[in-house]
Order: sequence, then C-alpha cells, then structure tokens
Amino acid sequence: IDTRLTRYLDLMQRVGQFYIQQLKQSLAKNKAVGYVKYRGISSQIAKRFELGFAPPNSNLLFGFKQDSQDIADLKVMGLLCDDQYRSGKYYDLFKDRIMFPIHNNKGNIIAFGGRSCNNNFKAKYFNSPETPIFSKSKELYGLYHMRKYSRSIDYILVVEGYMDVVSLHQAGISQVVATLGTVTTVEHLNILFRTTNTIIFCFDGDKAGEKAAWRALNITLPVIKAGITIKFLFLPDKEDPDTLVKKESSQAFVKRIENAQFLSKFLFSHIKTEVDFNTIEGKTLFLERVSMLLRKINYKTYQHQLLEGLAGEVNQSIEQIESILERQDISTQSNTF
Ligand code: UTP
Ligand code: MN
Ligand code: MN
Ligand code: MN
Ligand code: MN
Repeated sequence: IDTRLTRYLDLMQRVGQFYIQQLKQSLAKNKAVGYVKYRGISSQIAKRFELGFAPPNSNLLFGFKQDSQDIADLKVMGLLCDDQYRSGKYYDLFKDRIMFPIHNNKGNIIAFGGRSCNNNFKAKYFNSPETPIFSKSKELYGLYHMRKYSRSIDYILVVEGYMDVVSLHQAGISQVVATLGTVTTVEHLNILFRTTNTIIFCFDGDKAGEKAAWRALNITLPVIKAGITIKFLFLPDKEDPDTLVKKESSQAFVKRIENAQFLSKFLFSHIKTEVDFNTIEGKTLFLERVSMLLRKINYKTYQHQLLEGLAGEVNQSIEQIESILERQDISTQSNTF
C-alpha cells in the first residue's frame, strides 16, 4: 500500500509541474496569464502556490507519454475520466481552468482545485474527487503554506476560498487556511487546535457566509476546550477577504482581525436577531434557544460563564438559568442550523 501512495504523490507532483508548464507554454496561455494578472496575483505568489493552467484542449496523456501505470493512476486520482462514447479513450477532468494544487502538511500535492477563467461559467470552481490520498473533510487549503511562511501562529483565519488565501498571503497575512468548498468539520478543528489557540472564522459578507459562520459555531461548541478561543470576523456586504484586502490596506485588514467578535457575542446577538427581544415571548424563546445551544458545550468552565452571560441578558439568577438547562423538556423547534 505504501508504494502505491508514494506513486500517487509522485504522479501528482508531475501533474502539478505539467500544469505550471502549461501556464507558461500552452497555446492558450495568454488568456490564463491574463486572468491571473486580472486577479492581481503577483508572479512571486503564483510561484509560492504553484499555480498552473489546464488548457482548453488539456491532454494529460500527451504530457505523460501513455505510460500504462500513469494512466491507471491518473484515473484513481480522478484527473482522467473514461470517455463514455469511445471505449478505451479518456478525457481530462480539468480543462480551461486555473489550477490550485492542494498540498498535505508535508508539502506533497494531493489534489487540485480548478477555477474557470470565464466568469459566466456554471461551475466556477471544483476540486479533484475524494481519492486514497485526498479527503476534503480532513484537508485545509493553505495549511502547508501557513506553516512555511508564518513566523508564529498566534491565530488562524479560516476563510472560504483559494483566492482568499492567496490574496491574504500577498498582503503579508499568511496565518490563513480555507476549507475546500465544504463546511468546517470536527477533523478540521482538531488540526487547527493542534496548531494555534485562536481560531477566527472569516467568511464572505453574504448570506452564504453568514450561514457558514453560524454552522461553524454549532460545529465548534461541542469540541471547544480550555485554552482555545473562537472568534468571528464579519466582512462588509458583498466583500470577501480577497476583494476587501485589495480594496483596503493590509494594515486595515489586520485591524479587522484584531477586532474580531468573540463566539459568545456572536451567539447572543445571532439568537437576538431571531426573536423579538422586547417582548416576554421573545425573551422566552431567546432563553430556550440559547440554553439549548449551551447544553452542547462540554467545556464546563466556559459553559458556566456563558450561562452567567445569559442570566445577565434576561435579568435572572444563574440558579434559575441552570434549572432551565437541566430540564429535559426543552422545546426542540429551534433553527440552530
Ligand atoms: P465563492 O463563491 O465565495 O468564490 O466560493 P468566489 O469568492 O466567488 O470566487 P472568486 O473570487 O470569484 O474566484 C468560495 C469557495 O467555495 C468553493 C471554492 O473552494 C471557492 O474557493 N466553491 C465555490 C466550489 O467548490 N464550487 C463553486 O462552484 C463555488
Ligand atoms: Mn461567489
Ligand atoms: Mn461566496
Ligand atoms: Mn468568496
Ligand atoms: Mn472571491
């Protein structure tokens, strides 16, 4: 099994080189290089992230001299697909896309993400499928580069996209990773907990980003533990880290990082937006919904402090709040997700 995995990693390295070479030499390179420039990516940063290009007529086989082991392995990697109409023929998964290699923590390429160079294209991004060397619920884009280019890791920003990671690096902010178009998982959190004690979720300033933040809070609550701080950085409407750091200075973005909201504040303020807090009924709902969330916390000291906070919000004693929490008949109709 080990030799098989080594072979895959070696192959992915060669594919990465092939895509880099295509960005420099393919017939369609002008469009690709133009797009990379249009996104404001410097050649230094393109090199750091090993950005490449899968041309419109991409043909990995051509680049790999029809080696039968390579062909079989490219299929396992999901980069080569069977042609339904012509038996024994294959086509490339990625065509006419800017290629973002995804590295494991040792720096080996384990997968790729590809972005269309056309803004009107239906699937703007997609990744390699799950393979024996790639499981997206366990991998974070940028983790390898963060470790390599950060002097200390006193916090980690968790962002949505490849471009967010790349642009933040270019602005000198390298303590950043992205989930690969999926929700943040407990596996992701455990990797992050081992690397830093402050995690700052920073999703896009849109409805999807807001939802992602709330989801991240819900996934984090049961696993949060002593020594870990969770924060949220909300961006202005329609901005993502990539657009905002280009619009503002990197110092301004660092200021935003410093002013990120604590989890407790987000939790209370989010639930308040769901109810009419000025009425007894609204306060009741608030109390029920917040206590239901707090029950998920296993870190007792933090849970107790949040209960104190809740007691303050609704002007009750902590004993009253705790008795509510212990009740088993709490209404389950809460939109926590
Ligand atoms: P976004 O939809 O926020 O990307 O998705 P974006 O900021 O508009 O993209 P740019 O700036 O125009 O390039 C954020 C991330 O979600 C995943 C990708 O990982 C992307 O970086 N995604 C997005 C997909 O996997 N597929 C998609 O169709 C869109
Ligand atoms: Mn978008
Ligand atoms: Mn978005
Ligand atoms: Mn975005
Ligand atoms: Mn973007």
